Amino acid sequence: MLLLNLQQAYNLRSYVHLFKLFYEYYQTMSQKDTAIKPWGGRFSEATDTFVERFTASVDFDQRMYRQDISGSIAHATMLAKVGVLTDDEKTAIIDGLNDIQQEIEQGKFTWSVALEDVHMNIEAALTKRIGVTGKKLHTGRSRNDQVATDIRLYLRDEIDLIAAEITRLQKGLIGIAEREADTIMPGFTHLQTAQPVTFGHHLLAWNEMLERDYSRLIDCRQRLNISPLGAAALAGTTYPIDRHYTADLLGFSAPTKNSLDSVSDRDFAIEFTAFASILMTHLSRASEELVLWTSAQFNFITLPDRFCTGSSIMPQKKNPDVPELVRGKTGRVNGHLICLLTLMKSQPLAYNKDNQEDKEPLFDTADTVKDCLRAFADMIPALIANKAPMYEAAKRGFSTATDLADYLVRKGIPFRDSHEIVGKSVAYGLEQGKDLSEMSLNELKAFSGTIEEDVFEVLTLEGSVAARDHIGGTAPNQVKQAAKRAFETLEARS
Ligand code: ARG
Repeated sequence: MLLLNLQQAYNLRSYVHLFKLFYEYYQTMSQKDTAIKPWGGRFSEATDTFVERFTASVDFDQRMYRQDISGSIAHATMLAKVGVLTDDEKTAIIDGLNDIQQEIEQGKFTWSVALEDVHMNIEAALTKRIGVTGKKLHTGRSRNDQVATDIRLYLRDEIDLIAAEITRLQKGLIGIAEREADTIMPGFTHLQTAQPVTFGHHLLAWNEMLERDYSRLIDCRQRLNISPLGAAALAGTTYPIDRHYTADLLGFSAPTKNSLDSVSDRDFAIEFTAFASILMTHLSRASEELVLWTSAQFNFITLPDRFCTGSSIMPQKKNPDVPELVRGKTGRVNGHLICLLTLMKSQPLAYNKDNQEDKEPLFDTADTVKDCLRAFADMIPALIANKAPMYEAAKRGFSTATDLADYLVRKGIPFRDSHEIVGKSVAYGLEQGKDLSEMSLNELKAFSGTIEEDVFEVLTLEGSVAARDHIGGTAPNQVKQAAKRAFETLEARS
């Protein structure tokens, strides 16, 4: 009996032992999944599948593959220069990375969510391709300085495309302004007819806005063009790295000065989005005017059919969808600015995963701005000015009233009194349905005896605009000179 019990106890022990063995085997098998992660070493269970997807950025950051590869090539080149890698290792890494780039560009690369982001996907592919040497690429580097480098390189490329597109738009705009330097339209304040201006002058006002946008963009480029590479995770690295060398290789003007700041701040992305918001605000204002001007009520301009769409129900409609959409898209860019500001505002030093959220708003901002600029740059040179309706509109609304007041001042009447006199003549004109220039000398003399025949020179629209003949004024002669100077500014850029 006792023997039997001992036998049973022995069996039980071996069952427990067997169970333990089985459990350990199970653990090892499930750890296989963690082995795929470059950081999997200290983990004992696989990432939850939802968490894996939730924390991954590869779906959107894969578009930085070119910048990621350039950054890695520069890093490997530098590691070989300082003796951390052999020349053979460097060559194998660079060849492998170039092959991977080709594979991505041919659409043959398989991105894996399990590998989280563009950085780890490419690194894993490199190791798969060239073996153990691939594992040496990440020496003296962290994804924190890697991603900070990639975004800067990405944004720098986008900035160069956007700058070229602003220049193309400005060129078209200045061309039309020059052509329309003599075209008279009403100038508005409060959207009420104020004084006559030239259409060219109005378009050059848009050009001034774009000129400032351009300079803001170039400013932003200059500030972001410094290299965070070498900051590593946050504190720098123990390897004898040459940060000036990698900065040079990547076309940065210098290495960043503080490793903690390098991996943490995304103010350059905020600055770019602020630039974009202001630019979009300008494009939106111009869009608003284009929409108004194409309406039957204004009829100041015609947009070619290829920039408009129709209505599925109203056969007569030709809608200015392009400027409307540009106006509408301003909202999303402004939203991205608020998003990035809020993303940054409570982050302690140094890197935090929050920063992974910088990419989608940033990418969408750059895409939206590029599309809107392209639409504008294509559309503006094709715009047709409807001179007669513009002229007629300028004649309505007593737009030369200030000219009459100035005329009276020149005849010795104090401005406040002349303002009163002209106000009365406008009231009379409203009653009679007559513009000031349509009144007879006698009618005008009833308001002030100082008015003579020469008044009609200032009451015409042409006389009114020609008289504003100083720098920044609307006189056609000034507009032509301003357009010439504006062209020269563009030429000086290249
Ligand atoms: N995908 C990450 C990002 O966009 C890369 C950096 C990750 N760094 C880290 N320590 N988890 O920010």
